[in-house]
Amino acid sequence: METVLSGIRPTGNLHLGNYFGAIRNFLKLQEEYNCYFFIADYHSLTTHPTPADLHGNVKQVLAEYLATGIDPEKVTLYIQSDLPETAELYLLLNMNAYLGELERVTTFKEKARKQPNNVNAGLLTYPTLMAADILIHKAHKVPVGKDQEQHLEMTRTFARRFNRMYKHEFFPEPAAFNFGNDLIKIPGLDGSGKMGKSEGEGNAIFLADDPKVIRKKVMRAVTDAGPAEPNAPKSEPVQNLFNLLEVVSSPDTVAHFEEQYNACTIRYGDLKKQLAEDIIRFTEPLRDRILELSSDDKYLGKVARMGAEKARESGARTVKEVREIIGFRKF
Ligand code: TRP
Repeated sequence: METVLSGIRPTGNLHLGNYFGAIRNFLKLQEEYNCYFFIADYHSLTTHPTPADLHGNVKQVLAEYLATGIDPEKVTLYIQSDLPETAELYLLLNMNAYLGELERVTTFKEKARKQPNNVNAGLLTYPTLMAADILIHKAHKVPVGKDQEQHLEMTRTFARRFNRMYKHEFFPEPAAFNFGNDLIKIPGLDGSGKMGKSEGEGNAIFLADDPKVIRKKVMRAVTDAGPAEPNAPKSEPVQNLFNLLEVVSSPDTVAHFEEQYNACTIRYGDLKKQLAEDIIRFTEPLRDRILELSSDDKYLGKVARMGAEKARESGARTVKEVREIIGFRKF
């Protein structure tokens, strides 16, 4: 069975865009592949979180993934730092990672520009750590967005380089897992672009938002002055609301508002009220489950320990073999 692996940054709460973009697909993957999903807490140190924030974020992300239906019995769901062999493989790969190629990485250049006072070595070697994550389980497929494709390309470079250097077909070259048509792009509520937590207050709806907050965010979503004539094309903000409606509401509801729009009788307030209620209907069970899980330290601890054990079975074996290949041998 092929191995699929994905890393999740522990940076705050999941929103509808994460759900319909990635998680819905992870739920399918876990039925069909040998899956490793891990929370990338080593990676998050590049931005220097406090110990309390680091732990809190990891816990929240773990609770949220479990709430969406990621099944720790079916997949290996683990916390990156619970597999310290990752750090050893990272060190070994760094010996063959070159300053020039690391400096050329787009995400590095962007981060360096955004945080000029914290251009640390972890930021520079982010792609080596990501390669260690992937290669430690000899993953074949990695579901990644466009922004991570360059990192995956570097993982392939590092894998090839290692194999060539030691004349050993050891690491498979991981391919990007492309969901193609299964990817639903969720727009934000601010009239343009996609839903994201960095896009500004009120743009994103989080799975853990309470119904009052959801109503407020939706009612404040950007619209326009209304259709100027029958069957007028929709402006981007209004099209966005219709796109959201398509995802969470019934086809009848969508048809109803389409008709009203085309007849110029639509009242955006009505559409928003309906949209908010349908989003709440979708998120409320998830929210309840998130709240329940995030206060159940005993269960979260059990999941984390089980994940760590499964991850180490695979990861420790790979690193042991790498050590032998490199020439660290017992006397
Ligand atoms: N870099 C990824 C992101 O920013 C997270 C990540 C870390 C990752 N290690 C990984 C993703 C390994 C896939 C495979 O989203």
